[in-house]
Amino acid sequence: MLLEIDKLNLKFKTSKGIIHAIRDLSFNISPGETLGIVGESGCGKSITNLAIMGLLPDTAILEAETLKFEGRDLLSLKEKEWQKLRGGDIAMIFQDPMTALNPCFTVGYQIEETLALHRKDLTKSQRTEFAIDLLDQVGIPAPKERSLSYAHELSGGMSQRVMIAQAIACNPKLLIADEPTTALDVTIQDQILKLLKTIQEKNKMAMILVTHDLGVVAENADRIQVMYAGEVIETGPSKEIINHAHHPYTQGLLNSLPGKSNAGFRTPLPSIAGMVPDLRARPHGCQFNPRCLYVEDDCKERMPHLSNGKHGVSCYHPINIG
Ligand SMILES: Nc1ncnc2c1ncn2[C@@H]1O[C@H](COP(=O)(O)OP(=O)(O)OP(=O)(O)O)[C@@H](O)[C@H]1O
Ligand SMILES: [Mg+2]
Repeated sequence: MLLEIDKLNLKFKTSKGIIHAIRDLSFNISPGETLGIVGESGCGKSITNLAIMGLLPDTAILEAETLKFEGRDLLSLKEKEWQKLRGGDIAMIFQDPMTALNPCFTVGYQIEETLALHRKDLTKSQRTEFAIDLLDQVGIPAPKERSLSYAHELSGGMSQRVMIAQAIACNPKLLIADEPTTALDVTIQDQILKLLKTIQEKNKMAMILVTHDLGVVAENADRIQVMYAGEVIETGPSKEIINHAHHPYTQGLLNSLPGKSNAGFRTPLPSIAGMVPDLRARPHGCQFNPRCLYVEDDCKERMPHLSNGKHGVSCYHPINIG
């Protein structure tokens, strides 16, 4: 197993008290596998990734029964060890390249800096050459000239490619892509996702692909994990989840995908009524119960737990069963 997480809990200290943002999160990733994480805004996708990258703010309280990468306990890593791991065996690409790339340095220089940290075997000129080669690998035309550009001189799609080049510079075993295409238009989105897939197959790299869009993970992930209010409410092989969603929330997300029936028409898509709960005032029982079409009394009384097995669901009254 590449990444093992068992019963991870994440809280934040705030001026208004403690927020319990992630509750009993457990999941694993095998080498080469793609896990898609979906859920509405605020459900805990990004902070899960920050926990894996050791990038949580000082106000965070992180606890877990297991948090291991290649068998190494991440909870006991020192900052120096984190620096070695980050950008080395675990790399991350962010939603907005403009905030992740440094405006003061050329993009080539930024990739060289990553190489300087993790590839001590390369000389300076080898690093320069390798940075250009990486820009070429991610499909940037005239990579040598482009390596001398600054981020603001590149389009959104090109900057995203630069970030990918930087992320794959050290051949990571796990790439975390947190909404890598949300800021891009649809054709560029497609190109970037295809690029990630090609790199992944070539380098046998595992990937966590975070998105709001179930359509994107359906096409790109082996497994899907649906999160709601800091909990996993459904998980399983992508095809299973798309064709036989058991959780009413997952079904709601699927219903709001543009389908064949309304393709080309500007009909509003059905969305899930209501809002994600305020984590300071969580509802009793199932966190989704105030919005659920199938809610019954037991849902409001006790918290359901994720069932075991390949296709797990956390619901007392699952749908599409049998
Ligand atoms: N620094 C923080 N201090 C306090 N609470 C935080 C902090 N960071 C995150 N949270 C809480 O954790 C929740 C989840 O945040 P997170 O950024 O992981 O959401 P997300 O699923 O990535 O959403 P989005 O799709 O908008 O990116 C937030 O709604 C917020 O309540
Ligand atoms: Mg996020």
